[in-house]
Amino acid sequence: MAKGETGYVVKLIVCEDLESIATVAAARIIDDLRTTPDLVIGLPTGRTPRPVYRKLVAAHRAHDVSFRRATLFSIDEYVGLGPDHPASFAVYMREKLLSHVDADPARVHLPDGRAADPDAEAARHEALIGEAGGLDLLLLGVGANGHIGFNEPGGATDTATHVVDLAPETLAANRSDLPDGELPGRAITMGLATIAAARSILLLASGPTKIEPIRQLLGDGSVGDWPVAALRDHGDLTVLTDFTP
Ligand code: GLP
Repeated sequence: MAKGETGYVVKLIVCEDLESIATVAAARIIDDLRTTPDLVIGLPTGRTPRPVYRKLVAAHRAHDVSFRRATLFSIDEYVGLGPDHPASFAVYMREKLLSHVDADPARVHLPDGRAADPDAEAARHEALIGEAGGLDLLLLGVGANGHIGFNEPGGATDTATHVVDLAPETLAANRSDLPDGELPGRAITMGLATIAAARSILLLASGPTKIEPIRQLLGDGSVGDWPVAALRDHGDLTVLTDFTP
C-alpha cells in the first residue's frame, strides 16, 4: 500500500516484468468474471495490455473463462478512423481480444471514430455506460505524459466521455501504429469523471517511461499536470508496475 500525505491509499504491486503484470491482471479479470459473469469492463488499447489480452484469450480457449454475459466498453478511439481502419482501436480490440472470445456483440461498445457527430458519439458512449450500470472493472494504461485514455495534461478533471485534441507527444508515442499522412488530431475518450466512477481500477505501467507518471500518481502534485494523479483518491485502485516507483 502506498499512502500519500493527503491520506489516499493506492494498492501497488511491483512485478518482475510485463509478463508478470499481465498474469496478475488477467487472473483478476478472470476471477471477477467467474464471480460476476455480467461484469461491466472498460478496456484500453496500447502496447501494455497486449499480453493481458493474450492471456484472456488463452484462458477462454482452455474453457477457464467466458465473456458471454459481460458488457465491454473500449476507453477511446481516434476521430476520423472508422471501425475497419487498421489503425483504429476498434480493429485493435477485435484482433487482440474480441474475435477470439465469446463476447456478445450486443454488449460490446466501441466508439465509432467516423461518426458524423463525434460529440454526439461520445455522449452515446457515456449513456451506454450509464445504462449498463457503470463500469465494475476498468483496466487502464498510462501515457508517459500521464494521460489516461486520451485525457491529456491541462484538461478538465470533471469530464464525461468527450472529444479531445491529442497532445503532440501522444501522437509521437503512437506514431508507429498510425497511418502515414493522415494523423488524427482528435479522439473520443472516456473522461476523468467516467474513469473515476469505475468501481475498481487496475492500472498497468511497464517500462522506464512510465516511472514518472506513477511517481506523480503516488505523490501529491497537481492533477492538472498529470491526469493519472486524478486516480489517487479513487479508493479501489491497484497499480501494477515492473519497476519500483
Ligand atoms: C494510448 C491510449 C491509452 C494508453 C496509452 C499508453 O494513447 N489512448 O489508453 O493507455 O496510450 O499506451 P502504451 O501501453 O502503448 O504505452
